[in-house]
Parts: sequence; C-alpha cells; structure tokens
Amino acid sequence: MAHTLHVLTSASPVPCSRSPPLKHRPFTVFSSTHLRRSIPPLTRRSLSLNASLAVESPSISGSGEAEPLKPLLEVKDLTAVVAESKEELLHGVNLTIYEGEVHAVMGKNGSGKSTFSKVLVGHPDYEVTGGSVIFKGQNLLDMEPDERSHTGLFMSFQSPVAIPGVSNSDFLLMAYNARQAKLGLPELDPIKFYSYIQPKLAALNMDPLFLNRNVNEGFSGGERKRNEILQLSVLEADLAVLDEIDSGLDVDALQDVAKAVNSLLTPKRSILMITHYRRLLDYITPTYIHIMEDGRIVKTGDVSIAQLLEEGGYKALSSTS
Ligand SMILES: Nc1ncnc2c1ncn2[C@@H]1O[C@H](COP(=O)(O)OP(=O)(O)O)[C@@H](O)[C@H]1O
Ligand SMILES: [Mg+2]
Repeated sequence: MAHTLHVLTSASPVPCSRSPPLKHRPFTVFSSTHLRRSIPPLTRRSLSLNASLAVESPSISGSGEAEPLKPLLEVKDLTAVVAESKEELLHGVNLTIYEGEVHAVMGKNGSGKSTFSKVLVGHPDYEVTGGSVIFKGQNLLDMEPDERSHTGLFMSFQSPVAIPGVSNSDFLLMAYNARQAKLGLPELDPIKFYSYIQPKLAALNMDPLFLNRNVNEGFSGGERKRNEILQLSVLEADLAVLDEIDSGLDVDALQDVAKAVNSLLTPKRSILMITHYRRLLDYITPTYIHIMEDGRIVKTGDVSIAQLLEEGGYKALSSTS
C-alpha cells in the first residue's frame, strides 16, 4: 500500500491564520511530526517526495548519519500593512523552509505573493504588524534590508531595475565586497574578482561581455533575469526569493534561466520561487507548493498541486472550493 502525500484541502488544518508551521502540520494521511519521530533523520526533500517509501520502509536512511535538518526560514502568523495607508495586505502567513528545499508560492494576481517577498527583504513600502520571521536562527524583522542580504537572503524582483552608468562588473564587485566586509571576510580587487566570477559566468553560460554592460541597461527580459541569477551566484545566498523569474520569457529563455537556477542548488541552499504560471515548475521542481490567496497561504502540498492547477485553475484550489 503506497501512501502518497496528498494535497491539503480547505478542510485540512492549514488554511487558518493560526495554523502551525509546515513542519508540524498534519498531512492528509499522516502527520509530519509522526514521520519525523518514526524515521531517522532524512532531508525533508526525500520525505516529501518519497513519503510512501518512508512509511513502508522506515529504515531507508540506513546509516542515520545524515545531518539533522535545519530550518532556514520560519515565518509565523506574519501580518503586514501598506506603510502609507495602513491597509492590511498580509493576513497571517505561515511558512517554514528547510535547507536544500525548493518552495513555490503560487496564486492569482493580486493575492499578495510579491508583497510577501518584499516584506521578507524589508521593502519600505510595507510595515510588519504582527508575527515573526526567523532566518538562520536570527530575527529577520530586526534587520535592515542590507543586513538581511549580508546574512544570506537574496531577492530577485519581479521587474529588475536598470542602473545607468554603473557597469555590471563594478556593481557585482561592490555587492560582493560589501558582504565580505560585513562578514569580516577578505575583499577582492577587480582582478581577483574576475577570476572568482569567471567560472560562475561559464556555469551560467553567460558571455563575459555581460560584465562590461551597465546593470540591466538595454537588457532583454531574459538577460535581466539571468543577470539576477548571476548576482545570486556571486553572493552565494542561502535563500533566494525569486519573484516571477519566469515572467516575460519565451520558452528558450525560461529554460536557460531555469538551468541557471538549478545549477546553483546545493543541499544547503534553498529557493522560494514565486510564480503565477505552472510552466516554471516543469523546469525547476519544487519540494512544496503553496497556494496564496488574499494575503495568506491557504493550501500546501507536493508537486501534485500543480496538476490540480493545470486541470481546474486556481478556482479548483480556492479556499472556498
Ligand atoms: N505599495 C502598495 N500600496 C497599495 N497597495 C498595494 C501595494 N503593494 C501591493 N498592493 C496591493 O496588494 C495586493 C497584492 O499585491 P501583490 O502582492 O503585488 O500581488 P501578486 O504579487 O500576488 O500579484 C494587490 O491588490 C495590490 O494592489
Ligand atoms: Mg507579483
């Protein structure tokens, strides 16, 4: 008998704003707490994708030598308002991301996805009014936006801006050295930085001439997005929040960007990708998919959620369906 990890329905305990974080949430057929107690340490990725295996063969991790799981980001009951008008946009978001996991947040336009990601990086347009966000064991909400970045949080905005007059290489070197200085690590001069960035460009299949161009000036949609991934690669962030990394890209450009993102995945790094369309998930496989509706996460499940979305659209996944 194979139990699969079912998509949570609105009848499941996830949707309410006071629901516990993901790691403690019961799944439809068994609770993750039960799983965590009954089997030796595993990565949550294998838990989620091989849940049936885990239930039937509790000894699959064998040696039990895997490192204990570490939560990277823990968002609890997060509420936020527009700084100017005080209109509440996030009504209690709960989300936990462990090291090495890829999470997708999906939802209709206007459901609060970009707001959520901007609140995470400390965008001044929004004010947090309740809840908590712990990143790498530290209170993220106490940090200035640049501190968040230096601590290992990276954000790729939905519409990356151009910076006329500043070359890509200067910008990247500045960002890299600012982080090194903050962490008390050695800074690089432009020549050493070039050696550092060279293999990264090669891995992302990017032309070194990219470095001489001004940041995002005259870049096509695909080039802008790949430039974002280059920044991520240079900063070696632990958690990358990618807002609509697929928007405005044709299939070829999307594949390039997805390949670049996948090449950066390690067992320690995590990704929170925000997308309106399911097609991105064909190229970057998430560990979990969350559906956002009206400023909260109303459903969480594995990749099978994407199938439901394909068949019935967001209506099929609405909290009121
Ligand atoms: N700075 C802002 N001021 C006023 N309303 C905002 C602001 N940012 C977002 N909103 C509103 O909040 C809702 C959610 O927006 P957004 O987070 O951009 O949604 P999504 O990214 O899911 O499409 C929308 O109704 C949007 O108009
Ligand atoms: Mg958006």
